Parts: sequence; C-alpha cells; structure tokens
Amino acid sequence: MSDRWYEQAVVYCLDIDTFADSDGDGCGDIRGLIGRLDYLARLGVTCLWLNPIHPSPQRDDGYDVTDFYNVDPRFGTLGDFAELLHQAGNRGIKVIIDLVVNHTSDQHPWFRSARSSPDSPYRDWYVWSATAPPDRKQGMVFPGEQTDTWTYDRTAKLWYYHRFYRFQPDLDITHPDVREEIKKICAFWLQLGVAGFRMDAVPFIIEQTEPGNPDPPRDLDFLTDLRRHVQWRRGDAVLLAEANVEPDQLKEYFGDGGGSANRIHMLFDFMLNGRLMLALARRDPEPIIDALRDTPALPPGAQWATFLRNHDEVDLSRLTADQRADVFAEFGPEETMQLYGRGIRRRLAPMLGGDRRRLELAYALQFSLRGTPVLRYGEEIGMGDDLSLEGRDALRTPMQWSPLDNGGFSTAPAGELIRPVVTDGAYGYRTVNVTAQRHDPTSLLSWFERMIRTLREAPEIGSGACTYVDLPAPPGVLVHRATDVTGTMLLLHNLGDSDGTADLSALAGEAEYPNDVLADRDYPPPDGLDAVALAGYGYRWIRLNRRP
Ligand code: NOJ
Repeated sequence: MSDRWYEQAVVYCLDIDTFADSDGDGCGDIRGLIGRLDYLARLGVTCLWLNPIHPSPQRDDGYDVTDFYNVDPRFGTLGDFAELLHQAGNRGIKVIIDLVVNHTSDQHPWFRSARSSPDSPYRDWYVWSATAPPDRKQGMVFPGEQTDTWTYDRTAKLWYYHRFYRFQPDLDITHPDVREEIKKICAFWLQLGVAGFRMDAVPFIIEQTEPGNPDPPRDLDFLTDLRRHVQWRRGDAVLLAEANVEPDQLKEYFGDGGGSANRIHMLFDFMLNGRLMLALARRDPEPIIDALRDTPALPPGAQWATFLRNHDEVDLSRLTADQRADVFAEFGPEETMQLYGRGIRRRLAPMLGGDRRRLELAYALQFSLRGTPVLRYGEEIGMGDDLSLEGRDALRTPMQWSPLDNGGFSTAPAGELIRPVVTDGAYGYRTVNVTAQRHDPTSLLSWFERMIRTLREAPEIGSGACTYVDLPAPPGVLVHRATDVTGTMLLLHNLGDSDGTADLSALAGEAEYPNDVLADRDYPPPDGLDAVALAGYGYRWIRLNRRP
C-alpha cells in the first residue's frame, strides 16, 4: 500500500474566477466552487489544482500576486477558503494551490517599498542592476507580448529583472529573507489545510540571476530545503512543479530520492505533452514510443504529471521545426490560433475538429500513460475556445454548466462577466454544457466519469511500470502495458483512422482472463490475444490479471 496519494490522484485544474459565480457579480468565487464539489466528486477527481487565488491586479490571470497571505476578495474570504478545504475533504478531494514565488506583481507592497528607497528592507528582495544589462533583450518567455527581461525603474534609478512581463519583478532567491518568506507562505497555506502546491516557473525561481549572464548558476538545493520544510509541516504534502526544461535536466529537479536530495515530487511532463500532440497530429504512435523509451527511471516517490491541455498555450517548443509545423498544420493552421511562435491557444475539442472518437482516444491515451493525469476544467464536456479574446484568454472562458443565460455560470448581465461565455457555434453553451451531458449516458461527460472510475480501479496505470509492448501491431496502433504488484493492464490505442488487428498472443501466458475494462465500443472478447481488433481511432484497456 502506498501513502503516496499523488501517484494515484486524478487532478482537476480550474480558475476560480471562471468556474462558478455564486453571488451574481460576474466573477466566479469560492462559494460557487463549493456548490460544484458534488459534480467534481461524481466526475471522480481526487485533487483540485486551483490557479492563483491571491489578491492580484489580474494582469496575468492572477500570476501577479500582491498578497501571498490572502485570497482575492472577488473570490471570497479566507474563511470561505477554509470552508472549501473542509467541504472538499468531506468528499475525499484534496486541494493544491499555485505557488507563484518567482516574482510578485509590481504592485506588491514589497516591490513598491523596494523601488522607493535604497534603505527599504525589501530593496534586496528583488534583482537590480545599476547599468543596462547587455542581455536585457534575451530570455523572454512571452515573445511578442514582452520585449525585454530588464526594465529601468525611474524611481529606483536602477534596472530590475523580470523573466516574465515587466509588471512581474523577480524575487531574489539568493536572499535568505526571501527564502524564509517563501517557506512561511507554504507553511501558512499548509496550516490552513492545502495538500500541496503547483509551483510556478521553478527553473526561474532557482536561477541566480547575474546581469549580463544569460546562463546563470542555479540553486537546486533550495528545492531540497523547501521540500524538507514542506514535509515537516505536512508529511503528505506534495510539490508539483512547472519546469519546462531540457529533458536531461529534469532528474535534478526530482533529486535522487536520498535524504538530502529529495526535491520535487511531481513534474509536469512537457516533453510528453509535445509528443502526444505530435502523435495525434501525425496519427503515428512513434513519438510516444520514443517518450516511453526515453523516460529516465525516477527515484522512489517521484512521479510525472501528464496533461493534454492546461491554462496556457500548447507549448510545442521542444519539438523540431518539422514536427512543430506538422502539429500547427493539423491543430492550429491559422495564425490567430498560434501564440509566441511556439504554441496553440486552443482547447482540445476544437483542435480535434470536435471528433468525439479522437477526443476519447486522446484522453484515454493520456490517462493510460505513466504519471498522474491532470485535466483542465471544461475539457470533460468538450468545451471550445474564443479566439476573439486576447492571447491565452481564448481558452479561459467560463465553465458551461447549463443552457441557461451565461451557460449557468453567472446571473450577472452578459456584459459584466469576467470573460464572455462561448455562445455561438458548435461549442456554444446551449449545445455544450454539463446539464445536457449529465443525464446522457452516451455523453462525453459520462464517458469521462466511466474512464476515471476505471482508472481508479486500476492502480497499476499511472504509478506502475509503464512500457511499450514491442509486438506486431497495425500501423497507427500503440500497445503498452502497465504493471505493478496489483496486476497488469494491456493498453491499445489506435491513433490512425483505419481498423486493424493485433496479434498479442505472446502475452497470453500472463493473462488469467483477459477482458475489456474500457473500450470505444463492444469488441469480441480478446480471448487468446491472438486477434485483438481495434477500430480506427479506437482504444481498448484490457485487464490481463489482477492480484488480490
Ligand atoms: C507559468 C504560468 O503557467 C503562466 O500562466 C504564467 O503566465 C507564468 N508562469 C508567469 O507566472
């Protein structure tokens, strides 16, 4: 039995402001979310990841914080938040929150004080340079929206560093008081009852910025230190990091599992995300096979977090130019669908042309691979996006609950919503909404419920050994397996559109009573495993054996 709850979790990621508005002011809030916990429990998710909840001028969807010890008053109060944790806990749902400590908002009192005087106690909490750093036009995360990484501050008469937008000055991690403050922030929220943190921008947190040095040293020991602190405060707390770095660096973020080098528990698998997109676009499992082969062995307790969509653009920067071109051609052919030259600002349903078969295939595949699956709100009903909105806001539209006004998200006048609800076309709320799908056993939502239930009955998926099965399979078909002490699942996914049959009889010796636990349709029983049929875009999760 594992105490590592996160290895078997199903994580659901949501923005409070676009999820459910309880008081009719046009902005989602904590009480609205509490009212939807039963929905989430029925869906089967076991952990919520809340995008930033803190007070913020909202110039980067809350990733520009002005007070780490409070919740945005538009969302409610700390009391509401404590109630959310309690109510979620009653339903067996844990809550993790975004920890955004690479930078603050430039409106944060610390920065306002820091820039105002050299004597400010916060002056050294940020990264300054007396002269214009020669590399100030390098290292931008949002090219096109961002022109530099250093900005001259007229009050301080100094340049300050900001890896992201210029209203997000970076904190200086080398300062002991900053480190202590970050620990205090973690301790505060753990004390309140969160189960851990999604750590934003980790490669930049540990970067020891030096003006003029585009490749500064990194302090990975800070992660060891933070992990130890977090674990002392709450033994089962988890750190889930966003670290979109070269694959050979990833292991350093996990640490080696030893006492002094235990670092991040879970890392988002950006590499796999790009390869999943490529495999879907090319209808070819090869990139996933490569990913399974390349995955480094992780230390005990370390785990991947898999995802297809999150609150940002699909990031294709780790693909080659040819590969990226193929994904753009298939999933984001128009310039307005693309972002920063590297990504696609769309939700998955429109990317897949609304093809239900491919949507099921994509999510069955993601959820069947090693790692803990993370699902973005609205994906479970196949929501679309709104390309008329700026940048990443395109995929941050309100949750579509019902065919009522504003999709049941809010009773405010439509013009007063935090963001418009998708209203027109095939993804409009009158067509795509929870109420319509809830009672329809053939809906995408019902499928997600079944799929997640099946997954939760199959602990070997996600945390067991996940390997490619190198047996003759028709083109387009990926066969992999998941095994741990509880049993073995055989997983077939057809990325191509032609039907095929795989001969997997080499595995028959391991099968007690092979049977489909999840499939896109009723197939003849896979007895003998010598002729396992699979429709175009079909999938089959076949249980080979189960130990008591
Ligand atoms: C990564 C987050 O995912 C993104 O949404 C945000 O803009 C940047 N970090 C800056 O905090």
